[in-house]
Amino acid sequence: MTDEKRKRRSQAWFGGTDKDTTIHRAWMLNQGTPPDNFDGRPVIGICNTWSEFTPCNGHLRDLAERVKRGVLEAGGVPFEFPVMSLGENNIRPTAMLFRNLASMDVEESIRANPMDGVVLLCGCDKTTPSLVMGAASCDLPTVVVSGGPMLNGKHRGCDIGSGTAVWKMSEDMRAGEMTLADFMDAEQAMSRSPGACMTMGTASTMASMVEALGLGMPQNAATPAVDARRRTLSQYAGRRIVELVRQDIKMSDVVTRESFENAIRVNAAIGGSTNAILHLIAIAGRLEVPLTSQDWDALGRDVPTILNLQPSGQYLMEDFYYAGGLPVVMKHLLDKGLLHGDAATVSGSTIAEQIAKAENFNPDVIRTTDAPLTQSGGIAVLSGNLAPLGAVIKPSAASPELMQHSGPAVVFEDIDDYKNRIDDPDLEVTATSILVLKNCGPKGYPGMAEVGNMGLPEKILKQGVRDMVRISDARMSGTAFGTVILHTAPEAAAGGPIALVKNGDQITVDVANRTLELLVSDEELAKRRVAWQPNDAHMTSGYQRLYIDHVLQADQGADLDFLVGKRGAEVPRESH
Ligand code: FES
Ligand code: MG
Repeated sequence: MTDEKRKRRSQAWFGGTDKDTTIHRAWMLNQGTPPDNFDGRPVIGICNTWSEFTPCNGHLRDLAERVKRGVLEAGGVPFEFPVMSLGENNIRPTAMLFRNLASMDVEESIRANPMDGVVLLCGCDKTTPSLVMGAASCDLPTVVVSGGPMLNGKHRGCDIGSGTAVWKMSEDMRAGEMTLADFMDAEQAMSRSPGACMTMGTASTMASMVEALGLGMPQNAATPAVDARRRTLSQYAGRRIVELVRQDIKMSDVVTRESFENAIRVNAAIGGSTNAILHLIAIAGRLEVPLTSQDWDALGRDVPTILNLQPSGQYLMEDFYYAGGLPVVMKHLLDKGLLHGDAATVSGSTIAEQIAKAENFNPDVIRTTDAPLTQSGGIAVLSGNLAPLGAVIKPSAASPELMQHSGPAVVFEDIDDYKNRIDDPDLEVTATSILVLKNCGPKGYPGMAEVGNMGLPEKILKQGVRDMVRISDARMSGTAFGTVILHTAPEAAAGGPIALVKNGDQITVDVANRTLELLVSDEELAKRRVAWQPNDAHMTSGYQRLYIDHVLQADQGADLDFLVGKRGAEVPRESH
């Protein structure tokens, strides 16, 4: 055996003739693996979030088989293993509550098992950050394979986008402009193939972030789930992970501060989800790369949104792929000096090399930086006495006329209060009011649910109004839109100033100047603080208790405080 093989991590389990190595090998043989497969060749874990309760990841077993082909071709030996799978559409109270829990599952599964490298199979929103966070804390050679988007929804001859169409149509229905029968019809038209949401929601955003960070293969973001080339990409990823193990290229060798700067700019250019800010800060925290929400604002501020995809624009992911995919967007940015071209990727070439041949086949889908969809994209980070640790808004999905706005607050103490009163005909609200929703942050919901894009009051919808300023400590779905201020920190449940807002208080939002102010005197706020009681109606034991006690605020990525950082993948002591 060569020295290189002998020192491989998996050989601590499989290499040798003593009792312990026999125990590790012997049981593995019951799967029909030839004994010579344990001779020191790279052992690759395939971390799979397949689950029938996570429909967006329902096809990942097929992709796992393709990854295995690639691993075997390159002389490695693959083993697939399951981890907690978070389906955005089903998991209650919100998949975000369990992102950190799933990341612990991933981290401990990788470290505890005999693998030299890992391929992460993910798709639906939280499955990507949970896997990347967990793997980052281990820092083995890692490649991410996303499941890819669904085909475009088709309804009555028009394209409809997952999520985005639901938000829009449910408001149309409440306004009396769409029938229930049509709404039900659209439901079936929206999800007609395997894959993740085909809008630029959080799943597509995170698949794009993976590609921009250099952690995925070229075209990881946009290749449709059912396109044969998604399978090919998976097979290539299988080949590459074996090579990365041979060359000992760890995740942290690929993903650096420059990679995050690239990803933030790409997020601005694609009009990506506001959730990306939380997930990338959390991933950077695991890799011990300094990254703050202020970095997001500063790096994304002057980057135009050039991708014309819902919810910011018109098209869907299938169109994006046919137009040339993410490499085209990245090439436009590189040409403007907005990317680090020498950043590394798992494919073995630099970002610049990887995108050199990208060609734009549809300049209406992928605009240029000179004729963008929105001049200043990115995620704007606001601050002021209402959000001392910041709040975010996605300008490309907001109404330009509301980006500078003052109005009286209409306050909802929590999501139940909102649901009970929003359509009350006596609710004192006008189109210029600002809706404020409290207690939906990390500790408050708990899990920071995607309720920040709360629907407008029915009586306002009936006036033909479709957007109002909304402020909360919640998140919103990446498929959602509107002048929605999110992630207000500290959150209400942690005693942030948002907890002290009362009906009728004047609030001023100024996105251009990045401010969010509550026009109430310090003396009055101090008085209200004395009277403030935390709204604490959650489980007092179990995982929820652990989460509430340890979750960081949104500006720090809402990771658990004790999970931040790399713990490596040193081989643990023997089990017998
Ligand atoms: Fe799974 Fe949108 S619900 S990707
Ligand atoms: Mg979502």
